[in-house]
Parts: sequence; C-alpha cells; structure tokens
Amino acid sequence: MPACPAWLLAVETSCDDTSVAVLCGGVEAAATVSQTQVDAHAAFGGVVPETASRMHAEAIDAVCRAALDAAGIGVHQLGAVAVTVGPGLPGSLLVGLEFARGLAFGLDVPLAPVNHLEGHVAAAWLEADPQPALPAAALIVSGGHTELALVEAPGRYRVLGRTRDDAAGEAFDKAARMLGLGFPGGPAMQAAAARARAAPYRLPRAWLRGTNDFSFSGLKTALRRLLEDRLGPDEAARILRGPAARASAADPETFVPQVALAFEEAVVDVLVRKTCAAAAAWGARSIIVTGGVAANARLRREMQAAASVPLHVPPPARCTDNAAMIALAGAWAIQRGEPDARRSARVQPNLRLA
Ligand code: KG4
Ligand code: ZN
Repeated sequence: MPACPAWLLAVETSCDDTSVAVLCGGVEAAATVSQTQVDAHAAFGGVVPETASRMHAEAIDAVCRAALDAAGIGVHQLGAVAVTVGPGLPGSLLVGLEFARGLAFGLDVPLAPVNHLEGHVAAAWLEADPQPALPAAALIVSGGHTELALVEAPGRYRVLGRTRDDAAGEAFDKAARMLGLGFPGGPAMQAAAARARAAPYRLPRAWLRGTNDFSFSGLKTALRRLLEDRLGPDEAARILRGPAARASAADPETFVPQVALAFEEAVVDVLVRKTCAAAAAWGARSIIVTGGVAANARLRREMQAAASVPLHVPPPARCTDNAAMIALAGAWAIQRGEPDARRSARVQPNLRLA
C-alpha cells in the first residue's frame, strides 16, 4: 500500500463553507480553518450560487495560509493536496479545484480528487477511538444529501437507499422558512422544538416500505395543512408570512415550538428506524451518522437508543462541511494507489458515492 505523505493539505468549497485542513501522517487532523458564508446567504433564505463562488475565491488564499500557520508548517513541507470535486455547486467546486491544482503544480506534488460524500463518511474515522467496525451502515444527512450506504472498506461503498425528493436538511430548512425561523433551518428548528412543553401534534411519516429510500417533500404540505387546520386560514397565513406577521398570530410562542417538535420527530423517526433496519438486514457491525443534520441532538439521542451495534457520530464541527474529512478521504485515495490527478481532475457536480 502506498504510504501517505507526512503532510497533506485538503480544500473543501462544495457549498457555502471555505475550508482548508492539514492532515499529519494520514490520520490526524493537525489543523482545520473554515470560513462560513452563512450570513451572506441568510437574507435570501438559501445559498446563492454566484455569491458562494465569489466568496470562496475571495477567501481561499487567506484560509489556506491560516491552516498552514495553525498546523505550524510551511507550504513546501506538503507532500500532497486533496480537493473536493463533487457533488456540489459547480462554481464553488471550481474555485476549490483550481486553487488546489495550482498549489499541487506549484509544489510538484500529487493531487487527490475527493468525493464529498466519501468525505462525510471518513469524518467518522478522524481521531476516532475506537474506529467504526466494518461493514458499517452510514447515514449521510445534510442540506444536499440523504444517503444510506454500506461501507465495506474505505473506498468501497454500496448505496442502500437515498432520498427520492428533498434532503433531510433541506426539509428542515424549508420548514423553518415556513415558520419564519430563519436560515439555516436545522439549528433553528431544533432550538424551537426544545422550547415545546408538550407534543400535541403528529405529522405523517413516509416509510416507503420494502426500500431503504426516503421521502421528505410531503412533510411541507402536511405542515401547511396542520397550520391551516389548527389556526384557520387567516392565522396560518400570518405564520407563513414571516416573523413580523407571526407576532400577531394566536399564541405563536406555544404553537410554533410544538409544530417544530412534530416536524423534528417525524424526520428523526424515519431516519432512525430505517437506518437501524438496514443495518440489521445487511449485517452491519456499526452505524455511522454524518452530515450537517447529524448535529441534531434528537437524532443523535434516538439513534443511540435504537442502535443495536456501536454508533459513531462525529462531533458537530466534523458533521457539517469541513476540509479535515476531505483530507482523510484524500489520504485513503493515495493509500489505495489512485494516480496523481493534477491534469485530469474535473468538477463533478452530480457525483454519487457509488
Ligand atoms: O453538511 P452540511 O453542513 O452542508 C451540506 O453539505 O449540505 O449540512 C447543512 C444542513 C442544513 O440543511 C442545516 O439546516 C442542517 O444541516 N443542520 C441541522 C442541524 N444543524 C445543521 N438539521 C437539523 N438539526 C440541526 N441541529
Ligand atoms: Zn456536506
């Protein structure tokens, strides 16, 4: 197996985080520096692609320097560069790839292209003790993805199921927008749900029985219907119109948290039960939950309670997009003997895990 260089630098710019990490000896993340664009996109209720790529271009050089400084090494000590090539926003991916390619050519070191989804899986191995036992059932839940995969070995994945419409994080974001809770929606929904003192509402679950697939788009309609049923069309319209109008709606401080809780319960229930069932059916020896939605406290808690094999959930900063996970996936690619891709690497916005 080819050895991983002592120092590897990784670049992640697939969505709205500009992140650079330095990995030491192929296992330990020596430093990660990330700059989020969330404030710039919040006013639009979602990521604006043109703004995202411009902000990556403005930030990447300083983020890279800061990561090298934090790792305490000079750029000439790097032995390889890794970069996310997909899936993600084309313009954002391109900024990261061309920066990484330039760096690799300048230093005359190999370039390892990384699949962002493999990066999310790799996050479970970063400084993990014990490491996940294989095969592992991995649930990747983020703003752009909901995939359930069997990890047979690093680099060998079998996709068991995925969402047929909205990603779980996207569902949280859309529900939060409907309820006037802001962007990104997941943390706001979690905070609102935590304020509910009772759980009087229940939203439907799409089980898609006989498959490991998910569907979350029906929840939006169910949420709207719940608002209209309970409040009547006028009051529901006030809630849906945003925070200012909501202040005049009936009892928003009780109702909105209770609805947020019902929504969180519905999403988490499906994710937990389907993941545990798939893990059992495929003889998984561990379960991994990763991606931005894995930062959700209810999901972490309920998965822990339901899992019959050891559960691995990276710390929240490694669940959301970060370059440390890309660095480890890049190290795996080098150890697998994948060739230098300085000339051949292309962005692949629709790249799949397998
Ligand atoms: O992995 P990530 O940082 O970026 C993507 O690759 O999409 O995930 C971001 C997503 C957003 O949809 C956000 O609302 C969701 O993760 N998220 C959460 C929580 N924290 C972030 N969803 C539910 N509960 C949370 N605590
Ligand atoms: Zn991601």
